[in-house]
Amino acid sequence: MNDLKIIGGRVVTFQDGPVNGSHMNSPLVLENANIIINDGFITAIDRDRPAKETIDAKEKLVIPGFIDSHTHLVFAGSREDEFEKRLKGISYQEIAREGGGILSTVEATRNADKETLIQLAQKRLEYALSWGTTTIEIKSGYGLSTKDELKMLEVIDELKRSSFQTIVPTFLGAHEFPPDRGRDEYINIILNEMLPEIARRKLARFIDVFCEDGVYTKEETRRILLKGRDFGLLPKIHADEFASSGGSELAEDVGAISCDHLSYPSEEGIGAIKRARTVAVLLPATTLFLSGKPAPARRFIDEDIPVSIASDFNPGSSPLLAMPLVMSLACLLYKITPREALCASTINAAHAICEEERGSIEEGKRADILVCECENENEIPYWFGFNPVRYVVKDGKVI
Ligand code: NIG
Ligand code: FE
Repeated sequence: MNDLKIIGGRVVTFQDGPVNGSHMNSPLVLENANIIINDGFITAIDRDRPAKETIDAKEKLVIPGFIDSHTHLVFAGSREDEFEKRLKGISYQEIAREGGGILSTVEATRNADKETLIQLAQKRLEYALSWGTTTIEIKSGYGLSTKDELKMLEVIDELKRSSFQTIVPTFLGAHEFPPDRGRDEYINIILNEMLPEIARRKLARFIDVFCEDGVYTKEETRRILLKGRDFGLLPKIHADEFASSGGSELAEDVGAISCDHLSYPSEEGIGAIKRARTVAVLLPATTLFLSGKPAPARRFIDEDIPVSIASDFNPGSSPLLAMPLVMSLACLLYKITPREALCASTINAAHAICEEERGSIEEGKRADILVCECENENEIPYWFGFNPVRYVVKDGKVI
């Protein structure tokens, strides 16, 4: 007997990712389809078989679980004071230069014990799950000392055991420079203290660097990512968020799995991303929240670069976790279609974090599936701010 079947829904999914170009607008659509699930995997589509449990999805939309491929979900404190400053015209970068911004969250996170950080993060994960996020990447980067970066990664590791979602950890020690260390001194700590310990304890899959004017230079970013690679971590880059800072230009040299933000990629950077088959992870909520420039999503799609979208959830530039709303913002800011936005938040997001066994509804894939209270995929971003998720199936279990 099979474990679960989801019957009669409109199934919309992409297959064989990463998906690029016009394929991002052409999902597989199956009307009145049945999905059969066994042992956490999708074992048959479009055939009716007996199962212990049934979800009736008639007149409902069935899509893959959302994959949030870029978040900073573990932190203490909040920064609504900065929100007000920014509304008065003070920029995110000015606030950072005055010691606020990331460094204020570093202080709050250093002062919080592990148990507090776990509890805060668990609440956020439950909330994200209610909006359909079944897999999520989480970065460190609010510790900026060996002890505190390890603390953050240990918290993320603990969340893997205590949460419903699949959690993918990224080491972002190079998120800022700590106030209590010199520039070269801190980079040496990352390279010689943090990386060996993180690799030894297998606490991260990816390594990320905030490559931007005022933070890490292109050459520092290259050095840190290549050393991370020597330790078995896969490179990601916070690239070209506020200016063309050289981040995307490194995509090929370091073999970046993803370049993220990308509001100001240079021509050279677009070429490097394309040649390296890097996923462009775009963060529309951050663009809205910081009144930034939307990334050239259309250009990336025209260049056959696979595009993902993510929340970038963090206390400074994007306090938003709801992926359906991220889809709405992507459509509105980038002028991409709802189907392209769905592709970007499911299968392409899986490829942005090397979770290829998730992100689509295909035989043999993990059964991470949403049953939504709407008739078609265009309604998800259209009902701006409405939560369409009725059932979440994670690894074959109804949650
Ligand atoms: O991706 N750009 C750098 N890091 C985060 C913001 C972190 C923060 O402000 O706390 C981002 O937007
Ligand atoms: Fe980020």
